[in-house]
Amino acid sequence: MEKLGKEMIGYCGGLPLAITILGGLLAAKQIEEWEDVLRRVKSYLYEQPDLRLTKVMGLSYDDLPCHLKPCFLYLAHFPEDFEIPRKELTRMWMGEGFISQIQRRGGREDTMEDVGERYLQELVQRCMVQVGKNGSLGKIRTCRIHDLMREFCVLKAQRENFLQITNIPSMEESNARIGKIRRLAINLESSDNYLEGIKFNKYPYLRSLLYFVPHDNNLYLKESHFKKIRLLRVLNLENCHYYCGNLPDDVGYLIHLRFLSLKNTKIEIVPSSMGNLKCLETLDLRSQEYGMKVPNVFKNMKQLRHLYLPIYYQVSEKLELSNLHYLQTLVNVIPESIHIPSSFIFNRLRSLRTTTFLNEWEWDSDVVQVVSSCPDIYKLNLHRLIKKLPKAHQFSPNLAKLTLWRTGLEEDPMATLEKLSNLKILRLLFNSFLGKNMVCSQRGFPLLQSLVLSELRYLEEWKVYEGAAPNLLHLEIRECWCLMTIPDGLSSITTLQKLEIHDMPKSFKDRLDKGGPDFYKVQHVPSLVFQQCDRE
Ligand SMILES: *[C@@H]1O[C@H](CO)[C@@H](O)[C@H](O)[C@H]1NC(C)=O
Repeated sequence: MEKLGKEMIGYCGGLPLAITILGGLLAAKQIEEWEDVLRRVKSYLYEQPDLRLTKVMGLSYDDLPCHLKPCFLYLAHFPEDFEIPRKELTRMWMGEGFISQIQRRGGREDTMEDVGERYLQELVQRCMVQVGKNGSLGKIRTCRIHDLMREFCVLKAQRENFLQITNIPSMEESNARIGKIRRLAINLESSDNYLEGIKFNKYPYLRSLLYFVPHDNNLYLKESHFKKIRLLRVLNLENCHYYCGNLPDDVGYLIHLRFLSLKNTKIEIVPSSMGNLKCLETLDLRSQEYGMKVPNVFKNMKQLRHLYLPIYYQVSEKLELSNLHYLQTLVNVIPESIHIPSSFIFNRLRSLRTTTFLNEWEWDSDVVQVVSSCPDIYKLNLHRLIKKLPKAHQFSPNLAKLTLWRTGLEEDPMATLEKLSNLKILRLLFNSFLGKNMVCSQRGFPLLQSLVLSELRYLEEWKVYEGAAPNLLHLEIRECWCLMTIPDGLSSITTLQKLEIHDMPKSFKDRLDKGGPDFYKVQHVPSLVFQQCDRE
């Protein structure tokens, strides 16, 4: 192997990227196949040594299994240096139909999302895609593509008539046979512009249309002509603004649409024609604007898997969600704004975030009903006043990540939460708990890896008994200004790798720092970080 390896590296001419990519390709091979790769390296690279890198990339692309080729070419949509969110990318792949079969592994049925994630992992292993950020539960959060790899990808995609990229306002269109174009990426760069919109009648076969617009832009789209592109399956309008403040009604013609992102579009009303979009799998309406009006349009979207509502929204009629049997993600739901029959179970829901009407300070017991109707969630965000937590048995046994914000709990939440046997990440944020004392008992939090206590303004004392949280890796304490010091019990949590103290009084820091009376509690922690702890 060493001999073969050295010979192949020789052909890479000392180019790091070429070597990395070749390495990624070989990593996917059995040893018996190395000879064969060497033969191909020779034939690819021998003749034109100055095109080495392109040739290695070509080799790597040609070696991809069929199902990964379109997934890779799809990356050509994204502008240079773009951090591509893994969830959105895999959901666009799903919308395009690149991931159609449900695959079984070890008796358990994988979802399309699981398969998409595996596809991305494969591209990463082959060094064709790089990991940008990792998520807290060990999944890829964002990915990137090396500039030169992107150039290759764009070239390949355009040559195969896979997609076209248009930069507005220069409107340079390539010489591709426009009529056949199935995918279009539109980069809007300049500010202060009203845009006439693309002449969509030139693109009757469009399946994916992705706009890339800077976040704080002054660009307004005038028209849409969605009518002309009725075969569309993926539409990303993130950060686009419409001249009239609203998404045009004719979005209702896009009956094949699987993926629709209207994130940060500042639209005021969701058009009721959206109820026609019965194939939608992903719908993202997230926006910071206040009071978007959301009509009851979801009831026929029976394929919907991921629904993101705006952070603050209004309804005139309760939203019916009980037909959405495939729903996996439900974000920013206001329990009072939805209608679900009392015995209804969200069987497939994995991620839930509840919120509240704007300026609504009433507490609400519907949260318990919603939480206990989700037997399989692993990620839960409660952003609203509830005063009292559901009981430990009312939470899903699979819950791995929990965030509480402004829940206003009066009793020590640890007593309940430490019993959640799969909890890995717990974040108690801004006034989630209003009491003075917190206790973590022996054998509590068996799998907890990360704990954040932030802006618990009344917390004075926190006790941790020996044997609690035996797997804790990361602890962060932030703006808990009444907290005297950290618990003694931390000295017995030997797994702790990182302790972060942010915006705490100087006296708190001095106790913990080297030479301070509490240093013994943390001296075993490899990384101890203090930030903004200078105030007296
Ligand atoms: C992400 O996680 C993987 C596997 O745990 C690791 O190899 C990689 O270095 C991490 N990447 C980043 C950017 O943190």
